[in-house]
Amino acid sequence: MKIGIIGAGNIGANAARLFIKAGHEIAIANSRGAETLKDLVAELGENAQAASVEEAINFGEIVFISIPFGKYATLPADGFDGKIVVDSNNYYPERDGVFEELDDNKTTSSELLAEHLRGARLVKGFNTIWFEHLKTQGEVSLPTEERRAIFVAGDDAEAKQTVARLIEEIGFAAVDTGSLRDGGLSQEPGTALYNRELTANDAQAMLDGSGGY
Ligand SMILES: NC(=O)c1ccc[n+]([C@@H]2O[C@H](COP(=O)([O-])OP(=O)(O)OC[C@H]3O[C@@H](n4cnc5c(N)ncnc54)[C@H](OP(=O)(O)O)[C@@H]3O)[C@@H](O)[C@H]2O)c1
Repeated sequence: MKIGIIGAGNIGANAARLFIKAGHEIAIANSRGAETLKDLVAELGENAQAASVEEAINFGEIVFISIPFGKYATLPADGFDGKIVVDSNNYYPERDGVFEELDDNKTTSSELLAEHLRGARLVKGFNTIWFEHLKTQGEVSLPTEERRAIFVAGDDAEAKQTVARLIEEIGFAAVDTGSLRDGGLSQEPGTALYNRELTANDAQAMLDGSGGY
């Protein structure tokens, strides 16, 4: 699959490594331009290319976005129609600035991103896993239920399935927390799922049992 990646930091670069290892092609972008990504794509090999943000969007059947949430409105709104977008961004007011509509629970960070990217099929995912764990904890030889969980949420079931398959290909297990709004809320910083090292089995039991995470 062709995957465009926007954000080449802790999460974006490590996701790129995992996607390449799983046999995908990637085009990766940051805010400073493709020339600043030469070393990274040289390391990643022939299935990786450095790109502008627009090029990464055009390239990807899936577009994986991993930038500080507060910058989301700087992304182009067009070019996403029909594309599956993975939103790994988290809202941290001290880093991103205050978004009153989020602090007042009127909406969620993923819903704001989905509204901005016209026509995108948005799946929230990769939000609760620390990048060092993303780098090291994927294990394709394990049965899925024993693998580390990566949570997904969204309103497009088919898009969520596609992202779930990608998660399995890189050695993790996708666990569905539900809709973009409620499932998304359950993955936000400070929740019971955030940065928890859970197997898919334990994660599912927690979602089934508690209801009040
Ligand atoms: N770190 C974690 O363990 C972790 C885990 C789960 C989720 N997250 C979330 O994932 C997102 C990325 O985190 P990170 O730790 O990978 O951040 P990071 O290491 O600071 O990297 C951020 C990347 O985003 C790029 N970027 C910033 N503004 C951009 C823009 N307007 N257009 C295109 N690219 C832009 C940066 O490019 P330049 O360097 O060129 O500015 C950089 O490559 C955040 O929302 C974070 O909260 C992080």
